[in-house]
Amino acid sequence: MTTTGIASLGLALPSRYLDVRDLAALRGVDPDKFTKGLGCHEIALLGEGEDVVTLAASAAERALARWGGSPKDLGLVAVGTETAQDMSRPLSAFVADAIGLRGAYRSYETKHACYGGTVALRQALEWKASGAARGKAALVIASDVALYAPKDPGEPTQGAGAVAFIVDDASVAEVDLESHAWAEPAFDFWRPVGESFPRVDGPLSLACYETATTECFRQLAGGRPLADVLEGFAALCFHVPFPKMVKKGVMKLGEAQGWDEGATSALFESKVMPTMEWNRRTGNSYTAALWTSVAKALAGAASGTRVAAFSYGSGFGSELLTLTAGPAAAAGAWVADVEGDLARRERIDADTYLAYRGA
Ligand code: COA
Repeated sequence: MTTTGIASLGLALPSRYLDVRDLAALRGVDPDKFTKGLGCHEIALLGEGEDVVTLAASAAERALARWGGSPKDLGLVAVGTETAQDMSRPLSAFVADAIGLRGAYRSYETKHACYGGTVALRQALEWKASGAARGKAALVIASDVALYAPKDPGEPTQGAGAVAFIVDDASVAEVDLESHAWAEPAFDFWRPVGESFPRVDGPLSLACYETATTECFRQLAGGRPLADVLEGFAALCFHVPFPKMVKKGVMKLGEAQGWDEGATSALFESKVMPTMEWNRRTGNSYTAALWTSVAKALAGAASGTRVAAFSYGSGFGSELLTLTAGPAAAAGAWVADVEGDLARRERIDADTYLAYRGA
């Protein structure tokens, strides 16, 4: 196989979680607000000794282990994150320390809120396609820990996780070189230097996300009826800050296209909702959230299945990618990462969460 794409996938989730109903009881909120109002269910939380680096390293080791190549075949290692450990030293260096990588490869970190992982992946794909890779592969990782200030309205949407890709042949998925980007400067979600938690303008964040969705899918349609174009896709994956936000983005897209509300809802239920099954168990994992959804959609997909992936990062930048499942998608080897981590993790109670957060 000579086409460029994703040759291997690995995912990692932290070892603890909190049920959002326990958070609702702790904060004196009706649990239905979190489960029905926002569509959230569980918040993945770090355990002892875990951080954004251990998550990234674990996902990377899993992707490397199920790839045919070896670390010396890598020519690029890039990590997309908004959980930077340092203002200068890239997260890729922390990960290289953790998994023992060194050699003739380019190493860097990318930042653009939740879009940062997609940027790293696109760059790796374009580097491969350009010929500059000279036969080498890329290790790309999207890893984040999403925490808000205690009692912040965003608290039920917290989460964590990492997705690692080997960019080489298209065994898992071919990614089309043509993609559809849209960016506008906005302060919808940001974290000033020196502050531990993000600041969010929730309504603006939603408005930006809706604009980005509408503009990127308009480009995908390219003058054809979008509904016809989307018929060719088995799954539509979105960046998932929380499931209700995705639904709002899809409903706005339908409105912009002049679709009947029922038809848009049906599209959401059939092609979007199933892709968020793992996201509901992890919460928002920022750069990893879209790719957790894509990993779910590709798992078990027959070769040739088309999947769309809409990436959004506050600030804001967005890009719609289109993928075709390769021969290794049907076996979905990475399902074992998610199922294993979910089965092993510990549910913590509200008191433990309170002690963990300090308020
Ligand atoms: N039962 C069922 N639903 C309820 C409810 C109840 N008891 N109480 C409230 N709700 C619903 C509301 O109607 C609302 O749904 P709607 O938007 O469809 O009308 C939803 O729950 C949220 O309620 P709201 O009052 O808007 O929540 P909030 O002001 O506490 O804000 C967030 C919470 C998460 C929406 C807000 O903090 C936010 O937008 N955060 C950031 C978004 C983000 O993550 N951006 C990152 C970049 S993409």
